[in-house]
Amino acid sequence: MSSLPRSATRTFGRLWNYANNFWTIAGAILTTVSALLLLTFALVEAVGGIRNPYIAGFAYLVLPAFFVLGLVLIPFGMWRRRRRLLRSGATAWELDAFPKLDFNDPQLRKVATIVIVLTAINGVILGAASYMGIEHMETVEFCGTSCHSVMHPEHTAYQNSAHSRVACVQCHIGPGASWFVRSKLDGLRQVWHTAMNTYHRPILTPLRTLRPARETCEACHWPAMHYGDKLRSFARFAEDETSTPAYSVMLIRTGGGALDAGRHGGIHWWHIYSDNRIRYLAADARRESISWAELRTADGKVTTFVRNGTEAPTPAEVEGGARVMDCIDCHNRPSHYYAPPGKAVDAILERHEDLRTLPFFKREALKALTAPYPTHAAGVAGVRDALVAQYRSAEAAPERVALVARAADAVAAVYDRSFFPEMKTDWSTHPSHIGHDDFPGCFRCHDGEMQAAGGDRAITGECETCHAFLVQESAQKPDLARLTVSP
Ligand code: HEC
Ligand code: HEC
Ligand code: HEC
Ligand code: HEC
Ligand code: HEC
Repeated sequence: MSSLPRSATRTFGRLWNYANNFWTIAGAILTTVSALLLLTFALVEAVGGIRNPYIAGFAYLVLPAFFVLGLVLIPFGMWRRRRRLLRSGATAWELDAFPKLDFNDPQLRKVATIVIVLTAINGVILGAASYMGIEHMETVEFCGTSCHSVMHPEHTAYQNSAHSRVACVQCHIGPGASWFVRSKLDGLRQVWHTAMNTYHRPILTPLRTLRPARETCEACHWPAMHYGDKLRSFARFAEDETSTPAYSVMLIRTGGGALDAGRHGGIHWWHIYSDNRIRYLAADARRESISWAELRTADGKVTTFVRNGTEAPTPAEVEGGARVMDCIDCHNRPSHYYAPPGKAVDAILERHEDLRTLPFFKREALKALTAPYPTHAAGVAGVRDALVAQYRSAEAAPERVALVARAADAVAAVYDRSFFPEMKTDWSTHPSHIGHDDFPGCFRCHDGEMQAAGGDRAITGECETCHAFLVQESAQKPDLARLTVSP
């Protein structure tokens, strides 16, 4: 035995001998088939793009995994077979773990060329597949629709928001590798809960792992270029027969500016751009009841505020639980806002004034919207049917039929955007912090109950600090083009 010639031909033969086993052959088939499928999907993608998130998920996430699995199985099977051969009596010398390479041997050069070319092709396939996989995981389709109904509420609200052209990842991950990795690890946990059907219904809010908002929002809304008060005009309607309107116009003192760009005052200046830093402690997980806040100004001065009737927290409690206020402590629903039904129906009536000719329209719309429905689809249909049934009349003129149909569609659309029984999600489970009308919002701190240490003042609840009413609850529709300055 020991006199066997040790040529490359033998090396090749020996490798072949090792490869001749179930695992290696299965691995080779798996790798080849997934590579071919990947190539096909890449061609389809190049021609028209893959729209279906499940197919895309399979193509870019499952196939590359099979491809790699196959590549791993090939040497694994060879290693197992070598061990078997050794056990069944072959000598270690005969089965050297590493072939002695002699590149003067043309046979060996041929083998080496094949190995190098195959490795290069594998590298290209793997590189392209992981690039496509990552790109796919960044798409709105992947985040919003891969997990069936789980993200249905967030995805729907998102599509109806000012940010419907901003990708999920621009707010939820932002730039940089470390947050990318964190989000993928977090994603694995979410995939597990989805697969095990153990996810929360509704999905919990606030998000504990959200990146500090200033690192994401300010990619688009940056301080120095972001200022100016906001004129807001809106109508509220009564639940009476004619859905009587009351019009208001308010100037919201958004303000802005930055220390270097100049002071513009107002809400943004105070909370964000003046370099004031506000921290707070909430008594509940949803950050709804705030008991302590601290203001640190750019000059280093610190003022703390404690809610009347509560004890000041210990320094350990502050260090352990205080949250530095950023954009999302006010704008927590920039892209997932579920309008309270009253506000949503007001918005319909503001745009379709003729619906006020339907008696008690607001009252009936609210009744249909707040009735219980087992599923989202049943709710959309149920709301539409309830309104059609309510306003159907025997002598129905065609215009009236069309009006009722438009009314029913508009209210059903409200249900479609804001109520998700399967996920137990609606406007009441996901409060908005802007304002103080439907939820505590700004009044979590600005309710006049948060006293400064020393007790000489409270965080202001003065209405005009935040907004000024130019018109308040007028029966007449205001004419904004006629606002004048006093002589
Ligand atoms: C404009 C920025 C922005 C975009 C775009 C965005 N989100 Fe969000 N998302 C937020 C903020 C802010 C929160 C609330 C964080 C909080 O209160 O802690 C949030 C919360 C969530 C939550 C937790 C439940 C909730 O409503 O609080 C989920 C789930 C979610 N987003 C999924 C998505 C998906 C899926 C997309 C894309 C279809 C998306 N988001 C796009 C900013 C965004
Ligand atoms: C990729 C860019 C981008 C990012 C990131 C982004 N926004 Fe926006 N945002 C926009 C654009 C563009 C608009 C204006 C949309 C319009 O007027 O239709 C907008 C509008 C808004 C508005 C006004 C909404 C309204 O209904 O009028 C608010 C408030 C806002 N963004 C807050 C945020 C917050 C908070 C974040 C971070 C969580 C954020 N944005 C992240 C691009 C962005
Ligand atoms: C203290 C609360 C608060 C904080 C913190 C805050 N905002 Fe606002 N922001 C408001 C209010 C109130 C409005 C006006 C009401 C509205 O647009 O709904 C507003 C309006 C806006 C608008 C729309 C401006 C317009 O004129 O249409 C954008 C964009 C915006 N904020 C972005 C941000 C970003 C980005 C951050 C973080 C860097 C931030 N805000 C932090 C309260 C806040
Ligand atoms: C976590 C507590 C907290 C929340 C929530 C909060 N604020 Fe404030 N705000 C403060 C503190 C603290 C100050 C500084 C008060 C002081 O020094 O008297 C302040 C100051 C302000 C000021 C400047 C007041 C002045 O004296 O000129 C405005 C305007 C303001 N906030 C608007 C808002 C608006 C609008 C919201 C809701 C969208 C809001 N704040 C939500 C804590 C909060
Ligand atoms: C800390 C700031 C702040 C204070 C103080 C404040 N508001 Fe507001 N208010 C807001 C914000 C922010 C909104 C919401 C603007 C939006 O939806 O864009 C709002 C909205 C409103 C609305 C409109 C509600 C609707 O139907 O949409 C009314 C009415 C109102 N405030 C009345 C008052 C009155 C009265 C006071 C004084 C007792 C007061 N506010 C004090 C910040 C404040």
